[in-house]
Amino acid sequence: MTVDDVARGADPEDVSTNPSGNPAFRDVAEARWTRRSVIRGGTVAAAAGFLAATAGPAAAAPLAPAPAGSGGRGHGRGRLLGFAPVPAGSADEVVVPEGYVAEVLIPWGTPLNSRGPEWRKDASNTAAEQAQQIGMHHDGMHFFPSGRGEGLLVLNHEYVDRTLLYPDGDAVMTKEKVDKALAAHGVSVVKIEQSGGRWRQVDSRYNRRVTGSTPVAFSGPVRADHPLLRSGDKPMGTLNNCSNGYTPWGTYLACEENWNGYFGTGNASWKPTAEQARYGVVAEGFGYRWHAADPRFDVAVNPNELNRFGWVVEIDPFDPKAAPVKRTALGRVKHEGATVTESRGRVVVYTGDDQDGEYVYKFVGSAPWRRLRTLRKDPLDHGTLYVARFDDDGSGTWLPLTFGTGPLTAANGWKDQADVLLRTRTAADALGATRMDRPEWVAVNPGNKDVYLTLTNGSGWDNKANPRKPNPYGHIIRWREKGGDNTATSFEWDIFVLAGDPAYDPEAGPAAEDAFGSPDGLWFDRDGRLWIQTDVSNSTQNRADRGHDNIGNNQMLAADPRTGEIRRFLVGPRGCEVTGISTTPDGRTMFVNIQHPGEATTFWGTPTPQNPRAVSNWPDFDPAGRPRPATLVIRKKDGGVIGT
Ligand code: FEO
Ligand code: CA
Ligand code: CA
Ligand code: CA
Repeated sequence: MTVDDVARGADPEDVSTNPSGNPAFRDVAEARWTRRSVIRGGTVAAAAGFLAATAGPAAAAPLAPAPAGSGGRGHGRGRLLGFAPVPAGSADEVVVPEGYVAEVLIPWGTPLNSRGPEWRKDASNTAAEQAQQIGMHHDGMHFFPSGRGEGLLVLNHEYVDRTLLYPDGDAVMTKEKVDKALAAHGVSVVKIEQSGGRWRQVDSRYNRRVTGSTPVAFSGPVRADHPLLRSGDKPMGTLNNCSNGYTPWGTYLACEENWNGYFGTGNASWKPTAEQARYGVVAEGFGYRWHAADPRFDVAVNPNELNRFGWVVEIDPFDPKAAPVKRTALGRVKHEGATVTESRGRVVVYTGDDQDGEYVYKFVGSAPWRRLRTLRKDPLDHGTLYVARFDDDGSGTWLPLTFGTGPLTAANGWKDQADVLLRTRTAADALGATRMDRPEWVAVNPGNKDVYLTLTNGSGWDNKANPRKPNPYGHIIRWREKGGDNTATSFEWDIFVLAGDPAYDPEAGPAAEDAFGSPDGLWFDRDGRLWIQTDVSNSTQNRADRGHDNIGNNQMLAADPRTGEIRRFLVGPRGCEVTGISTTPDGRTMFVNIQHPGEATTFWGTPTPQNPRAVSNWPDFDPAGRPRPATLVIRKKDGGVIGT
């Protein structure tokens, strides 16, 4: 990549239309790296490569230097981050900055409509009742406005807490318990309205649950009648919906992540095939034991049921009768999310495969999405899926997962494009993709189209894109596609921040007072603030012997991508992770999810059916209740934009 390429990549139109006035990528990097003076450890070589490639005449005004001694934490004009950061904490509460308020909306078990089944705090709601209530473990989320002060909130329910979901825990597994778990998974669509400043759920014909049992359709190269998808029943359900996406035509994307964990078998002679092993399918699953009560999840009985999972699922929130559609052209992996952007009128979808050593993918539409829709072709069915190779010199290449190209030929045993997609991971192996430290969320800067990716933690993979070995705190990498065009097949990358606590790890990027670990959720707001949500595992949270006592509970931070400044905005209750984020179009209300408060942690203890409150009792604090995942509605008391 040459200096001229970078100059072309700094799209002046994008820079000038961004309210935050984002400068060119090279100025960002130079300003940040000058201020910090060094990029430490393994990132040095990559950083040097990037800087060498990007040194040259500036296309935009240079950034003003951070005020001396302020560490960039001032409240001056033009700053993206205007709030006073909150300290790390370990209390069983939600903490937001001075001048902000966070209210609880739609906790697990809330009836979908006012006539729906009431929440029972002893978890005795039946499976049928759960299917008419908000699911458990809120995750990815998007707000679809339908008018002023109203809209549809659409959110994923990633998984269930096997102890807290039932009055008697899960020591005995029954079909009713499997059905309740299935009903607590999936997606919720709820209408919400603002009145008197507060947001509340209202009855609506749009209020809907998609669960692990909802009939679903397949589209793209892998059809529902594919021989490897034939199983007992018609395809149904979506599971482990982690992060999400949303399309420019107003639909929601729910992503299937750790679907393998629900499957297992008691058949001692069963052995996984090579493909099943590649996706982590084992006889024990993740310990749910659904297979003991429902043969649908017994891999020895119904092996093809596995192939119905691992997809990105499109849901039209404004058409409650429409079946969710599994968009198979986006590949079959453990999709964390599906972040959509547009370039040259084409849709571009970035998706991480969240497992240690897995890859980053992107889908590029074959033609402008509006034209495809005019032709009655779905934009997510027509295009090319790529996987990323990050080279140590700071450059990168997108490798096409296209049958008949490169190693993906009939001579090498590949049958057709459906075969490539069903075996996406194996196809990416063959292409020489770069193994990464658990790729989670992707966010695209609305100003300059730079792409940011959280790598939550991992073992380090002998490449400079994953510069710490091991990498217990994770990092955020970013890249600029060639020419600033997100459909391009090459890019330049650098490390945005190495997470961690400088008290334990001198390589950590954040200031000591804003230390964080395991970045996971990642989202740009309309002004270009980068929001970072953390998911430190329950075996590590709060533990000094793992270098996490100063980090405290999981949290959300905001970053200024121009300067690298990061401030902690929110701390969650005990045992939770913070995930899912959206705002109203005016940026004055933010929605954030608190997932798995009160889950078993090494630090706080283990809930039991007798004491479900061992770790947390958020948000009800009912002495006879139990912790409940919920959505937070965050507003600024003066009505201002969140983050200012
Ligand atoms: Fe569901 Fe990778 O977090
Ligand atoms: Ca996640
Ligand atoms: Ca998690
Ligand atoms: Ca995670």
